Amino acid sequence: MNSTEQTLSIIKPDAVVRNLENQIKEIFKNKGFKIIKEKKIQIEKSEAEKFYKVHETKPFYNDLCEYLSSGPIVVMVLEKENAILANRELMGATNPKEASEGTIRKLYGISIDKNSVHGSDSIENAKIEIEFFFKD
Ligand code: CDP
Ligand code: MG
Repeated sequence: MNSTEQTLSIIKPDAVVRNLENQIKEIFKNKGFKIIKEKKIQIEKSEAEKFYKVHETKPFYNDLCEYLSSGPIVVMVLEKENAILANRELMGATNPKEASEGTIRKLYGISIDKNSVHGSDSIENAKIEIEFFFKD
């Protein structure tokens, strides 16, 4: 079952501050992702809290929202066949220490919280997350 999908990708503050934006975009393009929309923004903590609401009961929620709003991020809509899963595979495991060779988090992730990229985890969440950042 192959179909063209769109997914939301975020280059997180730890990667933007290290000037990794272009290198990470090159990885996506080389793997056949089209960057359909993109913008560099800094969000308020309250917006991060909305974005990560699914994690509101987790012990790391407050730090996570502080972190995502701590500096500029690059938000992108990526398009490709099976983009959602393909992006999750290319990102690698949440904890960079557990990420496979060649994945973005293995290459650039610093720690489980500063793991350089976000990617939607399902078709439903991709729609919600794209709408969240690109209402138009
Ligand atoms: O980003 P991903 O979907 O791989 O992981 P998640 O379980 O949805 O968690 C969202 C984000 O919370 C992660 O990307 C980490 O930045 C952060 N996190 C953390 O700081 N500490 C954890 N123990 C788990 C996740
Ligand atoms: Mg997630």
